[in-house]
Amino acid sequence: MFNSETRYGAVAMTLHWLIAFAIIGMLVGGKYMHGLPNSDPNKFLLYQLHKSTGITILALTVARIVWRFAGPVPALPATMATWERWVAHLSHFVLYALMILIPLSGWAVASTSSTGVPTVWFGLFEVPHLPVPATEEAHEAAEEGHELFGNLMILLLLLHVGAALKHHFWDRDSVFKRMLPFTRTE
Ligand code: HEM
Repeated sequence: MFNSETRYGAVAMTLHWLIAFAIIGMLVGGKYMHGLPNSDPNKFLLYQLHKSTGITILALTVARIVWRFAGPVPALPATMATWERWVAHLSHFVLYALMILIPLSGWAVASTSSTGVPTVWFGLFEVPHLPVPATEEAHEAAEEGHELFGNLMILLLLLHVGAALKHHFWDRDSVFKRMLPFTRTE
């Protein structure tokens, strides 16, 4: 359940893969629903689904960050160069920042919309709007931020997946495997 000095535990792995697949789905789904004409009968439902999943990702990310600091984090292999460690730490920090900034800016988009449509979490309860002014400028800034952070996330994900594959196939170290459930690392 807990991390050790050499492997991630069940909680960290579950949060990692749950959030990873949810974010990939949200990036693809977000671009798709944004491009739909207003007349599309599914648009309203897709937006509600997107907002509900995004709020869930925000909550899971907060839990993940708390868990990250609550226990040990497996060390990077001693074979990694100093610049590689820096890139790894910096990219992880930016990934965490984006996992917070993307849903927050999306929440701001919904909160500043002149339509006043509420966000209803999977049809169960209403999520209050953020206390931001519902002006045209604020709405446009939130939309631009949400799109920019999303595009940055796509770039960073490519770097992140590329780095994981390099560790596994090129360096042949345990960095990828220790985040994979049902595997062993020596
Ligand atoms: C990790 C979580 C999220 C991801 C990865 C994500 C991703 C995206 C993407 C890629 C788009 C299309 C942007 C574009 O190309 O213009 C989008 C649009 C949108 N997102 Fe999110 N989103 C997330 C969370 C949220 C949340 C929490 C909310 C609201 C509570 C939200 C509300 C919206 C809205 C309203 C749009 C449409 C903007 C428009 O039509 O201009 N998103 N999202």
